[in-house]
Amino acid sequence: MRLALLRWGPCAIGVAVFLALVLGGIGSSEKVEAGQGSAPSYAAQVQPILQQKCLACHSGAAKMAELVMDNYDSLMKGGAHGPDIVPGKSGESRLVLMVEGKVQPRMPFGGNPLPAGDIATIKAWIDAGAKGPAPGEASAATPKLAIPEIKPQVPVVSPVVSLAYSRDGKLLAAGGYKEVRLLDASTGKPLATLSGHADYVRSLAFSPDGKWLAAAGGPCQVSGEIRLWDLESRKVLRTMTGHSDCIYSVAVSPDGKLIASTSYDKLAKLWDASAGKEVRNLKDHIDAVFAVAFSPDGKWLATGSQDRSVKIWDVASGERLYTLSEPADGITCIAFSPSGKQIAAGGYDKTIYVWNLADKGGTLAHTLIADEDSILQVAWSPDGKTIITSSADGSIRVRDAASLDPVSVFGNQPDWVDALSISPNGKSLAAGRYNGTLSVYDLGSYKQVLGPLVAFEPQQPPKPQPGQTASR
Ligand code: HEC
Repeated sequence: MRLALLRWGPCAIGVAVFLALVLGGIGSSEKVEAGQGSAPSYAAQVQPILQQKCLACHSGAAKMAELVMDNYDSLMKGGAHGPDIVPGKSGESRLVLMVEGKVQPRMPFGGNPLPAGDIATIKAWIDAGAKGPAPGEASAATPKLAIPEIKPQVPVVSPVVSLAYSRDGKLLAAGGYKEVRLLDASTGKPLATLSGHADYVRSLAFSPDGKWLAAAGGPCQVSGEIRLWDLESRKVLRTMTGHSDCIYSVAVSPDGKLIASTSYDKLAKLWDASAGKEVRNLKDHIDAVFAVAFSPDGKWLATGSQDRSVKIWDVASGERLYTLSEPADGITCIAFSPSGKQIAAGGYDKTIYVWNLADKGGTLAHTLIADEDSILQVAWSPDGKTIITSSADGSIRVRDAASLDPVSVFGNQPDWVDALSISPNGKSLAAGRYNGTLSVYDLGSYKQVLGPLVAFEPQQPPKPQPGQTASR
């Protein structure tokens, strides 16, 4: 299965899990005449709080949940949920509800709650109309964002960001922060840890012969990385680099000869698995590419992107055959039907799209606004009968593939299910969560048969090393 994350997911966890950010050089000297009783000033009082406590994740570069606090206009524009500030109504402003912990996750994510005084300042400013900087009013200069080496302060458990069953169904691989765990698929017993990855392992794919595992990820804004692990020796066979940003999705061709990867760098690439060399660079998407899949006959490659499209490529020539452009928002996940005649996709518009595929083009077979929040993952059962999605609304839903009618639901997930994989015999569904747990459900009885279990060992805070300079 291919596993994509929400666009802010990996960076969010990357930073959030290891949060200890202190930004220096905030312009606290800019004093404006915010007299007693009058509304707090944006430039003098509100912006410095946001810069110090929030900008690490909400700058134009980090952009978590699409919310950018570099300046007043972008702050007011809001994020993934639209405007987060309702002028005059602090009680209805998502930003306030999140710093107060009334809407989860509490902000600043993973850090200490804001002091009551800061919250009161932000609320008073919003209640007074959330006015921007007055004409001519100096606004604190944006400090340079220096990202120190961020280490956990308390033991933390990595989220499960990718999952894959081996083709014989015996192994379950789980990807997390810098490592992959191989588990016995029936008992959940850890068998091995494959460590040394540069960052989150966001996607996993086994070779058809079960000899190796492709594990992909890489540090955001730096590079993408695919490691091929030999499953017998549990050693790295090859490391493939070439993407200029993190990889979200990896797939292996049905004959095991090619590996496909897609990245935040807007590209899809095909690699020769045995030589470890890039063989094609597929350029056509105009935004991050979150999902990739080979058709069951290996002739086509499909890619799903933040640019609201799914593209079908000819694997042999590397040519783009056509674009499916109905989605109203970014696509996070795709899955071919086992027959290869259809493809399903989902993403931020909460909608499942199913297209019929032909050589010259695709036609929409079904669409359904399926979930109450973004669709995170999609999987098509090996018998072709059901489509399973996980959603940011906290559910996993099983639907009839022909009608998209609901068949069953695993509701009340304790956290986002960012990773899904169906066992090759179609009997089990593995679900991995943002909170680091993993469960296996029986697809006959729709009951949980394994878990929830914690996939990774907690990472301990480092011992202090005086005199060492933080670097990245
Ligand atoms: C360590 C990273 C980090 C820091 C620091 C941080 N945030 Fe966030 N923020 C996130 C992540 C991740 C999300 C997405 C959370 C989710 O939806 O699960 C988010 C989402 C939000 C949202 C929702 C945006 C939307 O429209 O969906 C708001 C509002 C927000 N943050 C406000 C703040 C404020 C205010 C601060 C500072 C006091 C702050 N954040 C600090 C990581 C961070």
